[in-house]
Formats: sequence, C-alpha cells, structure tokens
Amino acid sequence: MKVIETIAGIRQLRQQLTGLVGFVPTMGYLHDGHLSLVKHAKAENPSAVVSIFVNPTQFGPREDLASYPRDIPRDLSMLEQVKTDIVFMPQATEMYPPRYSTWVDLEKVTERLEGESRLGHFRGVATIVAKLFNIVQPTRAYFGQKDAQQCVVIKKMVADLNMNLEVVVLPTVREPDGLAMSSRNTYLKPDERQAALVLYRTLKLAQKLWSQGEKDAHRIRRAMIELIEQEPLAEVIDYVSIADAETLEELHEITPPALVSLAVKIGKPRLIDNIVLE
Ligand code: PAF
Repeated sequence: MKVIETIAGIRQLRQQLTGLVGFVPTMGYLHDGHLSLVKHAKAENPSAVVSIFVNPTQFGPREDLASYPRDIPRDLSMLEQVKTDIVFMPQATEMYPPRYSTWVDLEKVTERLEGESRLGHFRGVATIVAKLFNIVQPTRAYFGQKDAQQCVVIKKMVADLNMNLEVVVLPTVREPDGLAMSSRNTYLKPDERQAALVLYRTLKLAQKLWSQGEKDAHRIRRAMIELIEQEPLAEVIDYVSIADAETLEELHEITPPALVSLAVKIGKPRLIDNIVLE
C-alpha cells in the first residue's frame, strides 16, 4: 500500500495505473461502513484508492472540525488489511492554498434537510469531492447510503458537470442492534448510545406503516415524531422527512422511491439515518 501526501505524487502514481480505478473519499476515523466501500472498490476495479482528508470547508463555524475524531495509524492499518493500493492524505494547505476562491455550488437538492441545518455544508462537500475527482481521476467512486443527501448531491454534480466517472452508492452498514455506523458515534456516552437506537426504530416504523398500505406521508411523519419524542435523550428533532428520492422534495402522498430521513440530536452529537421506500 502506498501512502501519498502530495497532489504531484498522486498524479504521478495515477499515470502508472492502466486499468479501472475505484475511489473511496473519506475523512478518516474509519469503520466497517468505509471498509465495505473499499472492499467493493477493490473487487470491482484493479486498483483501489482511498483519500483521508478532514475537509474544513464542509464544517460550519459551530461544528466539530477541531474535535473531529482522527487516528491515522489505525486507519492505515485497516486500509492495509483490505488491500487498498493507494492512500491519498493531502494537507489542507495544498488543497486550499491562500486566496483559494473556486466553489462548486448546487441548487435545489442542497437547500433542504442537511443543507438547511448545515449552511454551506454541501458547497464544501461538492467542492472537495470535485477536486479529489480531478486529482485522482477515478473510473468509479463509492459512497455510503447513510449520507443519502450527499449521494444525491454528488450524483447530480457528476451529471451536471459531465464528469467522466460512475458514482456507486452502497447500503448503510449497521451495528448488530441497528445503529448506522458513523465516525461521530464515538461521541455517544453509553446511555446515549442506547437512546440512539430510536433513529432506526423510527425508520422501521415508517417502513412498517408503508408496507401496511399507509400512503399519507404526513401521517407517517407524525407517527415517527411521536416515537422519537418518547425517548428522553433525543433532545432536538432537527427534521423528519419523507421526500422524493431524487429531487428531495417533500411528499404528501408517497410514491416510491421515497427517501425517509431524519436528523436527531442525542446528547452532543447530531445523528442522521435514512431508509428508502421502494
Ligand atoms: O462523507 C464524507 O466522509 C465526506 O463528506 C467526504 C465525501 C469524504 C467529503 O469530504
């Protein structure tokens, strides 16, 4: 496994790769969700490249950039185990040099849900992902369904800007009790970790009501909110949404595929999760 820290270094190495390249962009502090993406990248392409970069431009001023969990030695050993070929770990000063001034800003799909709560977040995500795509030049890039809106945004950016690669979205990897894996789960205290299960329970309730024939999105949303409110540690319900899976516009009557997503603050961290009603 080669670990490269400069753009010139990765460009030089990329020129030597002749076949398809699978790429997994990450912010590190890896878990099994990331490893599942890397395993697919490796299985479906002769070369797998992973980037580790805690992208400052996707964090708001009151978010956790400084305290975002980091453990590079652990990440590298996990990546080695799944036979990653190349790890790209750029410095922020090279990705965003002084007087940096170009941004990728998508309309509409960035305006609701995470975009509404985290102003500027998707501008940072789209910009860094576009830059990484330009640098790594992958054939396929892998993302987890856990960040459903991010997947929609990146697919739209790739289509709108005619980027020459395929975006592959893989299912959310969950802990045995259903909690969606996330680097931010590490912030949860033991009682909060237990309380966090309310997110998946709530999504399963939506799935159950839908499969019993309920098509009224408002009724399902109300039942979901009532269930979350029964959990005392679920301090703030940021949103509970049932939206068109592609446009992310909120639905009145559910027509599949519909994205059921929610963001809830449990103790310090704000957790997100989703399912798709097919
Ligand atoms: O999903 C993430 O970890 C980040 O948003 C990404 C795609 C690596 C961009 O910084």
